[in-house]
Amino acid sequence: MISDVVDLLSCPHCATALIVEGSPGLRLVCEEGHVFDVARHGYVSLLAGGGAAGTADTAEMVAERAAFLGTGHYDGIAELVAGVAADSASVAPDDSCVLDLGAGTGYYLARVLDVVDRPGIALDISKHAARLAARAHPRIGAVVADAWAGLPVRGRAASVLLNIFAPRNPREMRRVLHPGGRAVVVVPEPDHLRELIAEYGLMAVDDRKPERLREQFADRFTVEAEHTYRATPSLSAAEVAQLIGMGPNAWHERAGEVRSGGAVTVAVRAYVLSPR
Ligand SMILES: C[S@@+](CC[C@H](N)C(=O)[O-])C[C@H]1O[C@@H](n2cnc3c(N)ncnc32)[C@H](O)[C@@H]1O
Ligand SMILES: [Zn+2]
Repeated sequence: MISDVVDLLSCPHCATALIVEGSPGLRLVCEEGHVFDVARHGYVSLLAGGGAAGTADTAEMVAERAAFLGTGHYDGIAELVAGVAADSASVAPDDSCVLDLGAGTGYYLARVLDVVDRPGIALDISKHAARLAARAHPRIGAVVADAWAGLPVRGRAASVLLNIFAPRNPREMRRVLHPGGRAVVVVPEPDHLRELIAEYGLMAVDDRKPERLREQFADRFTVEAEHTYRATPSLSAAEVAQLIGMGPNAWHERAGEVRSGGAVTVAVRAYVLSPR
């Protein structure tokens, strides 16, 4: 719930502390009097500017993501992330949280909180994603915010920072991560979903190159370890459509063309980063 994490959040306008007020209609209020209503579905929007960026997942994409993750085909990725996160949390202080940047439905964060006894912040720019993340685990507080802007999170608040197939902001990630904490950044390998990219003429996402990721983080983080996860699950036609439908804009328009299932390469790399 949002009350589990409010001490770790900060006002997006003036960066002062927030407290929870009101019952039953909850809201967060900062020291300068800025007010943020907690939505009926349990998340709070701490967006500083007007609307959400164009990169927010739509209701439809989020529904496809929830359906696909529910099939269990990505459970191996969640297990890898949870294992790495559990090791990382043991070296950071007790009053910190697990922060997931670009958390989507909260699927990975919930799996991490099952093995790490801390509160979790699911941050995403999509309110549709935040709505599902808010109920993915009892200890999740879901926040709508822009990962590319200043994060409405207090410095050193996170002992574990997750960033899974999502926008990265190394400067802010460094600020909110406790010096003893770890960031777990998961990115697709070049051959991830290669069968679907070939068959449906999907554009491969260009930022998959490991060198680019290393460069992006080099000033502020050290790569402690790398883990890969590879599998070739056999997907039904409906699952293939979900997987394409949850993907980036240029992809999900093609989901309606799916006629058959088949084996699909799942290949990702998890980087474990420690702050410099
Ligand atoms: C590919 S999805 C991954 C979601 C989740 N990590 C997962 O793997 O299931 C990318 C997520 O990043 C979110 N997103 C896109 N731009 C963002 C931004 N500027 N700030 C925060 N979240 C953003 C999207 O709404 C979407 O939920
Ligand atoms: Zn304020």
